[in-house]
Amino acid sequence: MASNQVIEEKKQGQALLSETKSSNTKKVYLESYGCQMNLNDSEIVASILSKQGYNTTLSMEDADLVLVNTCSIREKAEQTVRKRLEKYHSIKKINPKMKIGVLGCMAERLKEKFLEEEKMVDLVVGPDAYRDLPNLIKEIDAGRDAVNVILSKDETYGDVSPVRLNSNGVSAFVSITRGCDNMCTFCVVPFTRGRERSRDPESILNEIKELHNKNYKEVTLLGQNVDSYLWYGGGLKKDFDKATQEAQVTAVDFAMLLEQCALAYPKMRFRFSTSNPQDMSLDVIHSMSRHPNICNYIHLPVQSGSTSVLKRMNRKHTREEYQELINQIRQIIPDCAISQDMMTGFCGETEAEHQETLSLMEYVQYDFGFMFAYSERPGTPAEKRMADDVPQAIKKRRLTEIIQLQQKHSLKRMEQAIGKTVEVLIEGNSKKSDEQWMGRNSQNAVVVFQKTGNESIGDFVHVRVENCTSATLIGQKSN
Ligand code: SAH
Ligand code: F3S
Repeated sequence: MASNQVIEEKKQGQALLSETKSSNTKKVYLESYGCQMNLNDSEIVASILSKQGYNTTLSMEDADLVLVNTCSIREKAEQTVRKRLEKYHSIKKINPKMKIGVLGCMAERLKEKFLEEEKMVDLVVGPDAYRDLPNLIKEIDAGRDAVNVILSKDETYGDVSPVRLNSNGVSAFVSITRGCDNMCTFCVVPFTRGRERSRDPESILNEIKELHNKNYKEVTLLGQNVDSYLWYGGGLKKDFDKATQEAQVTAVDFAMLLEQCALAYPKMRFRFSTSNPQDMSLDVIHSMSRHPNICNYIHLPVQSGSTSVLKRMNRKHTREEYQELINQIRQIIPDCAISQDMMTGFCGETEAEHQETLSLMEYVQYDFGFMFAYSERPGTPAEKRMADDVPQAIKKRRLTEIIQLQQKHSLKRMEQAIGKTVEVLIEGNSKKSDEQWMGRNSQNAVVVFQKTGNESIGDFVHVRVENCTSATLIGQKSN
């Protein structure tokens, strides 16, 4: 398995802890699976619950409430959550006062079925209904089950100040859009997270100001499809055409938002995720090149290197258009790192189409990537209209091939940094040793180096790279 995939798996399913408020008397055990957006949603949930008297705990045995923020993207993600529910249930036998709630995409997808199928759940709350948690908790305290899975046109939680969870005090996520309108045929997200809407830039900048005042140094702007960000006074993206002319003229798009952030906080570093190739504009790439504090890194999922597969996936670009976008990025920002999401074994994928994926990877030589075998999701257009006809063994073999190729490219890209001096934001101790720091450079590569005693977490330092693996740069601080 590729090292970056391992990193992603490890990030999943962690119990989350925040600073405690001494006046709070109740305890919530909160666990988050899936994407960064889910982690940020858990921070919104922690904020709402903190006002209801809850502190986070790492011990399920004395929790009043156990909440799991779930992911539906692949079947395996759902299976993992089901196993966790069994675990919570076994703890409930020791701690009978404990209530169990399911949040996020699986809650949205399965709705009331959760209460019927999984008798062990008291509370089911979809991604747009977290504001209702105080009422729903009252319901379960009164002994009734509670469900709210209503999707919203304008909920962005813009005014909720997230309580940072498992934070390193240096880097934080700020959500800027919710939902997705793209309708890739394989993807469950448009069904679980609803239609796309953007958050007021003022509330985004206020949240960044709060982080700045708390000495955070890096912000990642989050959305399922960040490049599609469009603020015109509120409402769904798809209703933009119906807005007044004035609202349309004064609208703020992603390139403008990114620029505003970079200019307002020149000492902070900005990242963003995820970019969909069909929505990424040259303006964004130019904004990146103009501002040294916008990191030179783009996560640009492509899913397949074959135009025919992309068409079946309802991705709105061809292989050639994607290559052209890569060329533009490389021309405007020569040292920009690019990463991918790739999927093998989508409906009808032939060997020739798979080879096109490998050849696209050879063309781009991605810095890293996240690779998956296609997993059919109930209710998606692919499940309704296409046959999941690539045998599991073939999906797996193709997956191994792309992972191996990616590892080769990752190593090659990392080796290119050897001998260079890179700027690193220190995030904490390295995993292997307290004598070493770990941080990232602008390209999002993990950098490890020996402590000298003159630097601390949150500092930007220069490191001369001497060695590497396919996932880590290793060097010495340079003066
Ligand atoms: N918004 C992002 C993707 C969100 S899902 C985008 O623009 O592409 C994250 C990744 O999970 C996707 O890029 C895709 O590679 C993978 N994925 C999504 N649905 C999947 C499925 N049904 N089976 C396997 N992998 C899937
Ligand atoms: Fe999913 Fe495609 Fe949106 S992968 S999140 S429908 S861009």
